[in-house]
Amino acid sequence: MLEVRNLHAKIGDKEILKGIDLTIKEGETHAIMGPNGSGKSTLSAVLVGNPMFEVTDGTAIFNGKDLLEMKPEDRANEGIFLSFQYPVEIPGVSMTNFMRTAINEKRKYQGLEPMSAADFIKLMKEKRQVVELDARLSQRSVNEGFSGGEKKRNEIFQMAMLEPKLAILDETDSGLDVDALRIVAEGVNKLKSPHNSTIVITHYDRLLDIIRPDVIHVLYKGRIVKTAGPDLAKEIEARGYDWIKEEIGEK
Ligand SMILES: Nc1ncnc2c1ncn2[C@@H]1O[C@H](COP(=O)(O)OP(=O)(O)OP(=O)(O)O)[C@@H](O)[C@H]1O
Ligand SMILES: [Mg+2]
Repeated sequence: MLEVRNLHAKIGDKEILKGIDLTIKEGETHAIMGPNGSGKSTLSAVLVGNPMFEVTDGTAIFNGKDLLEMKPEDRANEGIFLSFQYPVEIPGVSMTNFMRTAINEKRKYQGLEPMSAADFIKLMKEKRQVVELDARLSQRSVNEGFSGGEKKRNEIFQMAMLEPKLAILDETDSGLDVDALRIVAEGVNKLKSPHNSTIVITHYDRLLDIIRPDVIHVLYKGRIVKTAGPDLAKEIEARGYDWIKEEIGEK
């Protein structure tokens, strides 16, 4: 699915990613943890092609294609989806229109006809249920005036609509109340299949208790310094990151 090798990226003169290696196979869920400012959001931004960051070295191959050569919209059309740590508001554009445009753009890329209005409405209804999204929210402008939790839930709804091959969820859990956290995490699980993959970026093991990743990576100062099984999240919750810094000889 995704093969990242020696990825380096900078913003201005500041190097943020300093040689990331990451292999994600079809059907796998990986979690990325790590202290604030270690480069987690930067990695997700670079993978989806955010032009703020400049890739200075390394490769990223997505289903056999050179990701770094692709325009951001083509990366989305190829099936990469990023749920933002801070979802943006788009005043004046209704959720319904936004989703219809996104879906039909993708269908066009795949050489398919636009979806009929009836099918689209049916799909919206079906996918809203995945995250128990209030129907009224889809009448409103994208994220405008949504509460923090509603925005996060809406991100997973968008993911459900677009059925990505690789979903990257950047701190989808932050700001969610306990019930919403469970609904969103279970929504992510419902969308799992042997043919898609997920990267979950989070600080806490409570989301991972429900999502159960196959692998957990720790990103620190722009590098993946540790990779282990799901128990690593518990260890980090209990012990913080200092012991990992010691392991890599930083302390
Ligand atoms: N637009 C920017 N301009 C300058 N520096 C930036 C910019 N975006 C990110 N950085 C810097 O890059 C580093 C990594 O940031 P990033 O957002 O990737 O961290 P993170 O691991 O996602 O942290 P958090 O856990 O707090 O979300 C930080 O030092 C940050 O200040
Ligand atoms: Mg971040």
